[in-house]
Amino acid sequence: MISFKTALAAAAFALFSIAVTAGASDQCITCHTKVSPGMVKDWQVSKHSENDVTCSTCHGDEHSTAEDYLKAQLPSEEVCAECHQEQYDSFAMGKHNFGWTSLNAIPATHMAPDELIEGGRGCGGCHNMGIKTEEQKKELLDKGYRYQKNSCDECHTRHTFSKKEANNPRACQQCHMGYDHPQWEMWSSSKHGTRYFAKLAGDLPEGAQAPTCQTCHLPDGTHENHTAWGFLGVRLPLPEDKQEAADRVTILKALGVLNPETGEATPILDAVKSVDMVRLDQASWEKERNKMLKTCTQCHSESYAREQLEMGDSILGKADRLMAEAIETVAGLYKDGIIKKPEGYPFNYPFLLSFMHTNGAAWNENLDDLSHIDQILLRMYMKHRMRAYQAFFHVNPDYAYWYGWNMMTEDLGEIKELAKILRATHK
Ligand code: HEC
Ligand code: HEC
Ligand code: HEC
Ligand code: HEC
Ligand code: HEC
Ligand code: HEC
Ligand code: HEC
Ligand code: HEC
Repeated sequence: MISFKTALAAAAFALFSIAVTAGASDQCITCHTKVSPGMVKDWQVSKHSENDVTCSTCHGDEHSTAEDYLKAQLPSEEVCAECHQEQYDSFAMGKHNFGWTSLNAIPATHMAPDELIEGGRGCGGCHNMGIKTEEQKKELLDKGYRYQKNSCDECHTRHTFSKKEANNPRACQQCHMGYDHPQWEMWSSSKHGTRYFAKLAGDLPEGAQAPTCQTCHLPDGTHENHTAWGFLGVRLPLPEDKQEAADRVTILKALGVLNPETGEATPILDAVKSVDMVRLDQASWEKERNKMLKTCTQCHSESYAREQLEMGDSILGKADRLMAEAIETVAGLYKDGIIKKPEGYPFNYPFLLSFMHTNGAAWNENLDDLSHIDQILLRMYMKHRMRAYQAFFHVNPDYAYWYGWNMMTEDLGEIKELAKILRATHK
């Protein structure tokens, strides 16, 4: 719901723009019905056309011929905020608002072709989320990218801008799928997803319940999204168990946030903090966990739900035992000079935040190729550890075992075997 205040502002804004641009909008529609009829159709069936929110409300009225189209404004999130302040504000507090900044905060970004970053595919196709700063906008323009990508059409796409579409879990699928975050695959083949599809097909009695991505992550119309663990699956404070704490420290070193020699925090920790990649204290972790528990108790008992979530926490601890052993094995090879520190690595130590399998020397001669054993380590962290723990939270048996835990044990075996061979053949 839009608040009374926002509704008033919307009315005032709409009146103002109609008064100024009614004639211009008719022209927009007349001409665009010829040049892009499908787009006009989408607008016509939207709530916006019913409410006199017209082409020129969002794009201005300076462009009026086929030639001067560069004068049309491409609206940023602030334009939507004129009438939807509440959604804008909650979006601004959530993780989606960091999509673009966190992509650019990690070194991997600068090791891939621009088309995969600023262009709408690859990393940039999913991370084009977040209200851009003036500096970020200028940087894009300087590189020749005119479409700056408004985040508000990612779930309710233009120009229908439909609330119903955004409530469909498919709205999340494009980005929350695949290699390192297959939440779509996990949820859709879980019992939760099965219930959703059965309900959709009319195979469940009216009123039957089934949780979607939105039920658990954007409850009650909020646009703020956060989870307790977050993507990297590390947090502070360290766990009480000594081994588990040591394993997490090893992972923090390999993420580059702790100096592997001294154990002290590095500038990478500041970068990670600035985009809220990890929960840094118990309270901020618990806040998200308790919100989630409350959601589960719509349909489950609290103790049942708590037990399920705690199982996710404990498998993460066990997965980290495997992960830490793999990191230490590769770190030993760095230490003994058997593999060399690649350009761009902060320390003479494995670096998980590089995210990718290869630095790609074949397309950019300034980059080094990564050793094969390092590539296996990255795959273990990015693909298999992610799956092993994310599957617990999304109640998916196959991802938890075969695509997750089992593959981690395979990676570790391969790493140990390769390390032996590398040591034996190193003169
Ligand atoms: C006489 C025809 C005509 C009129 C009138 C017209 N447009 Fe366009 N508009 C075009 C054409 C043609 C293009 C595509 C140009 C291209 O991509 O080659 C375009 C492109 C656009 C774009 C994309 C701009 C970009 O940077 O890619 C927007 C937005 C737009 N029009 C909005 C409007 C609005 C709003 C109005 C009314 C104020 C309007 N148009 C009036 C023909 C028209
Ligand atoms: C001039 C005011 C105005 C602007 C600017 C505006 N909207 Fe709206 N929007 C409205 C009104 C009015 C409604 C209808 C509200 C209702 O039916 O309760 C609406 C409805 C919506 C809905 C819900 C549609 C549905 O299916 O119920 C979405 C989503 C939406 N707008 C997104 C956007 C986005 C994204 C932008 C920016 C690109 C935007 N709006 C810009 C006024 C505006
Ligand atoms: C298919 C869409 C998609 C592509 C392609 C993609 N990402 Fe992501 N990325 C996501 C999603 C979704 C998340 C959040 C996942 C989660 O929390 O489980 C994420 C998380 C991240 C994070 C962590 C953000 C945080 O605060 O926790 C970074 C950094 C990142 N991606 C960088 C990259 C880089 C670099 C590339 C290209 C090499 C890339 N991503 C490609 C969708 C994508
Ligand atoms: C509620 C705001 C809103 C209204 C109303 C609106 N647009 Fe848009 N339009 C957008 C947004 C947001 C984008 C994407 C901008 C971006 O990502 O940089 C866009 C993009 C475009 C583009 C360029 C991208 C493409 O897909 O070709 C054209 C052309 C365009 N709009 C034309 C129109 C026309 C014609 C109308 C009226 C029938 C209209 N718009 C009404 C918000 C709006
Ligand atoms: C991650 C997906 C996602 C993004 C990104 C997103 N929305 Fe939404 N939006 C939703 C969902 C889901 C709903 C339906 C909420 C509900 O059922 O109350 C919604 C509903 C809305 C509505 C209709 C509210 C109502 O109750 O009628 C408006 C307006 C809206 N969003 C504006 C925005 C604006 C503005 C932005 C950008 C700042 C934005 N949204 C970005 C998912 C998204
Ligand atoms: C256009 C791509 C895109 C779409 C669509 C999208 N997301 Fe995301 N999502 C991302 C990216 C990228 C991140 C990581 C943001 C960052 O860098 O911090 C993310 C992060 C998240 C997180 C935060 C995880 C954490 O770190 O705590 C949740 C929860 C989430 N998304 C849920 C959803 C839901 C639910 C939908 C559908 C309604 C959705 N997303 C739609 C790209 C997308
Ligand atoms: C039944 C509730 C529920 C549903 C449905 C659900 N999730 Fe989650 N999701 C969770 C829980 C619980 C976590 C872990 C929270 C924590 O860290 O404690 C989580 C975590 C996440 C994360 C952070 C990384 C991770 O995977 O652990 C993202 C991103 C995410 N979910 C996206 C989605 C998307 C997209 C969908 C739909 C395809 C979805 N979720 C469906 C409950 C749900
Ligand atoms: C909107 C209702 C709803 C919500 C919210 C919900 N669930 Fe469920 N859940 C169900 C239903 C219905 C089933 C199917 C029960 C069955 O298999 O008989 C189910 C099944 C499960 C199962 C699998 C049980 C089995 O027998 O295989 C687990 C585990 C689970 N949920 C955990 C959670 C957790 C944890 C949360 C919160 C993060 C949650 N659920 C939120 C409705 C919900």
